[in-house]
Amino acid sequence: MNIAQLPVVVVGCGVAGLATALAAAPRPVLLIGRQAVGQDCASALAQGGIAAAIGAGDSPAEHARDTLTAGAGHNHPDAVRYLVDHAVVAVRWLQTLGVEFDCDGEGLSLGREGGHHLHRILHAGGDASGAALVAALHRAARRAAHIQWQPACEVDGLLLRGERVAGVRVGDRDGQKNVLECSEVVLATGGIGALFAATTNPIGADGNGLALAMAAGAPAQDLEFMQFHPTALAVASCGALPLITEALRGAGAVLYDDSGARVMAGRHPLADLAPRDLVARQVWQVLQAGGHAWLDATTVPGDWQRRFPTVDAICKRHGIDPRTQRIPVTPAAHFHMGGIAVDFDGRTAIRGLYAVGEAACNGVHGANRLASNSLLEGLVFGRRLGRLLADVRLGACRSGSHWLVERGQSATESTLAQLRALSWQALGPVRDGATMQQALVHIDSDAALRTSWQGELVTRMLEAALRRRRNLGAHYRLDTAKQKAAQPIPLRLL
Ligand code: SIN
Repeated sequence: MNIAQLPVVVVGCGVAGLATALAAAPRPVLLIGRQAVGQDCASALAQGGIAAAIGAGDSPAEHARDTLTAGAGHNHPDAVRYLVDHAVVAVRWLQTLGVEFDCDGEGLSLGREGGHHLHRILHAGGDASGAALVAALHRAARRAAHIQWQPACEVDGLLLRGERVAGVRVGDRDGQKNVLECSEVVLATGGIGALFAATTNPIGADGNGLALAMAAGAPAQDLEFMQFHPTALAVASCGALPLITEALRGAGAVLYDDSGARVMAGRHPLADLAPRDLVARQVWQVLQAGGHAWLDATTVPGDWQRRFPTVDAICKRHGIDPRTQRIPVTPAAHFHMGGIAVDFDGRTAIRGLYAVGEAACNGVHGANRLASNSLLEGLVFGRRLGRLLADVRLGACRSGSHWLVERGQSATESTLAQLRALSWQALGPVRDGATMQQALVHIDSDAALRTSWQGELVTRMLEAALRRRRNLGAHYRLDTAKQKAAQPIPLRLL
């Protein structure tokens, strides 16, 4: 095959992967996903929408200010500027693809979520925004002549030739493995929430792309920064916990403890809409003290079927009527601010290897992502990367020796369950040095944990969290907060 005809391989069919693939036209793109589209990506579960400075009195500068405040100033300011400056364009592009954003009498309806000082969140289908976006992008990608699909496959190896990525190894459900040549590889594989016992993420958000890039020698960045959503539904689960969207608090819902006291009273000027890390820690503390945390949404007005159909259905499935009953909630791993270190074009340190969306870290979210900035990030930086790839003339290197980098051995289900409990205990919303050290020793002393790529990834996160002694954003250590050695936090699973 002529080099120019080799495809760009995009791994991951969430918003970031689809946006990249669409923007890469006319380059041929091979889209590879572990599942059928929309079935195993966090994008499709997103209830919050897209933040864009569209409302009267709002501006990209205001949006940037809230993004930087939530990110504890750890954000890369140029990445933030690019994100907020391109938000409205991204929204208009989605409209051209057929996304119908929710409207009220005055035009586009704008909601509010934690950390935002203004109403600037667009929703589509109420709290089913992520699904609406993925469906529209999926339709467009199906129609695009330059995109081919390879679903139900897993990429577990990278072919390198002459210091450059030249292909991927793909395994199908029957265990059949093939090496496919390509010109560039984009990892849009999502985050790592599924490595925690309590998570809002689908099972596939297990850091597989991050682990692969690291195995190939691409540096990671900010691995210690994991965001916990304050309000997942507190039910026993061995998979994703259903999310109870922050937009409910934006519409007036309030967090209470068992005694009826407001969880966020006196904690922050924005109270229940304080940045997510603060709210998650307060809810965590209520649960650690042996109590329960409740979201009271009974005062939220309006048509729930239109505004919150997902939450309404989830609650009812669990025997709760959110219009008349309080909702039991727990923090849960939600979004990884860290990831494969990339520049604004998604370039990793390895030629021909790119990353975008939650799998990547270009510094835009800092130490704590602002609500509803992640679908936006996937769209804005995905389109930027796609346009770059459309133009790239380098192509794959066809000479020199080649070798295959393998991600490594996968943990068994029982080993994974152990690892998830360990991550939740040691790397949860409130951390301490002693517990993190113990977790490292535990992984190192258990061959099954130590030799799996998932165990290796959690080890890297623990090391990063131990190195960062100062509390910042979502990374909160009790031992450094109190300036004394804390007792390990007892494991308390749902
Ligand atoms: C939510 O709906 O609460 C989640 C929004 C987000 O994570 O951006």
